[in-house]
Amino acid sequence: MKLTVAAALLGVATFGAYGVGGSLSAQDAKSQWDGVYTQEQAKRGEGEYAQHCASCHGPDMTGGEMAPGLAGGEFSSNWNDLSLGDLFERMRISMPQNAPGSLSRAQNADILAFMLAKGSYPAGQTELPSQTEVLNTIKFVSAKPAAQ
Ligand code: HEC
Repeated sequence: MKLTVAAALLGVATFGAYGVGGSLSAQDAKSQWDGVYTQEQAKRGEGEYAQHCASCHGPDMTGGEMAPGLAGGEFSSNWNDLSLGDLFERMRISMPQNAPGSLSRAQNADILAFMLAKGSYPAGQTELPSQTEVLNTIKFVSAKPAAQ
């Protein structure tokens, strides 16, 4: 089953990370609720966002005249059940809309970390990676999972 493989891959990728406050059962893939970025990374992303994204998506990420918001209700329901890899690729290939593909993977990962911080998802001990294959193993789930 696909999720099991994803969880196994992720176990390798996050080897050495602190626990995530509860054991993940086999059918639970990791999600953006599990502390998948660090505060320092989000801080870097904040600067990148201000420079490359805020002019269209708004300084507070609520969107602009043409561009949609990148945190909160509508955004999170758009991306529900997709993966952080999907979101990362969307940004990496099509954004910034006035210079698509101009940012590095590391810059995009930092900006994505800042987007998660703005969405009020918890920070953790491990930086969000910039490899799409690893990001594909982290789901975006709009509803907060029930406490374990
Ligand atoms: C020149 C204006 C502009 C800039 C700069 C820009 N965007 Fe966008 N972005 C848009 C517009 C317009 C859309 C919606 C139309 C589209 O998808 O192309 C969009 C869509 C998106 C989406 C899809 C949102 C959804 O709900 O599906 C994401 C994610 C995104 N942008 C991220 C970024 C990031 C990250 C940056 C900075 C690296 C950025 N954008 C910079 C104009 C911009």
